[in-house]
Amino acid sequence: MTTDTTTKDATAGASAPGEVVLDARGVTMRFGGLTAVRNVDFTVKSGEIVGLIGPNGAGKTTFFNCLTGLYIPTEGEVRYKGNVLPPKSYKVTAAGIARTFQNIRLFANMTVLENVLVGRHTRTKEGLWSALLRGPGFHKAEAASRERAMELLEFVGLAGKADHLARNLPYGEQRKLEIARALASEPGLLLLDEPTAGMNPQETRATEELVFAIRDKGIAVLVIEHDMRFIFNLCDRVAVLVQGEKLVEGDSATVQGDERVIAAYLGEPFEDAPGDEEVAEVEAAEAQAETTTDAAPGKENDR
Ligand SMILES: Nc1ncnc2c1ncn2[C@@H]1O[C@H](COP(=O)(O)OP(=O)(O)O)[C@@H](O)[C@H]1O
Ligand SMILES: [Mg+2]
Repeated sequence: MTTDTTTKDATAGASAPGEVVLDARGVTMRFGGLTAVRNVDFTVKSGEIVGLIGPNGAGKTTFFNCLTGLYIPTEGEVRYKGNVLPPKSYKVTAAGIARTFQNIRLFANMTVLENVLVGRHTRTKEGLWSALLRGPGFHKAEAASRERAMELLEFVGLAGKADHLARNLPYGEQRKLEIARALASEPGLLLLDEPTAGMNPQETRATEELVFAIRDKGIAVLVIEHDMRFIFNLCDRVAVLVQGEKLVEGDSATVQGDERVIAAYLGEPFEDAPGDEEVAEVEAAEAQAETTTDAAPGKENDR
């Protein structure tokens, strides 16, 4: 009841740029003897697109689940806009955090439009009784909800398929529909769990544009993805999770250049790196090439 909002002022989002919207401190999640997430501090500011990467099993999805009320962290605390998260996922959604799932979760036998309408339930004022009695208030609210849902379908490029059954959409469009449904709760923070999994390069590019457009609407985005090009193109900041711990965090260049990240993905750090002997050999060959070239070094190549 307290979370009811009309369609007009529905954005649980809009906040000053640079303000911390998500603040996770010391988050640990254990399953029996397994620690899937270990003492992770993590923030997202408004206006930011933040990436979360890491090898399979690193704890990325588990961490997302801790940010959305699906799991209650064993230790630590998560705040959204200063308030500790309520321990239920629908309450977290109402508070302003929306998400998509690594494994698409749509209502397969509902239409595209209906799927988005379902996503609006935390934002519509009309409750159960109103819906059952179908009074004038209900019809008005329903019309407004439909209008907003169609707007969102337009935004993700699915307006033309509003009446199609969700299950008949190609995979890439199902992912877009999940995003539209998440946006229907008018979030201030959107969490995307592997949004381009199974997409072709064109669809991935389109998703990139879509995420930028979402950010431009004032919604902060936290995205898990394996596609490094996508991540490094998109994100203002990237955090790397390895075996449940945050290993590195920084801008794309920092993270890409970090040996520990390379090691986490590729195995032992210097396995394939040239040894001293090889380096000496290459240097000798280069010196040889320089002395046998007519042009003085640097002359031809000066720019
Ligand atoms: N509900 C659960 N119960 C027990 N173990 C889990 C559960 N969810 C995830 N795990 C374990 O936690 C670890 C991290 O998994 P996950 O968060 O899915 O990793 P990622 O998303 O980075 O691939 C894995 O070892 C996984 O098996
Ligand atoms: Mg995962």
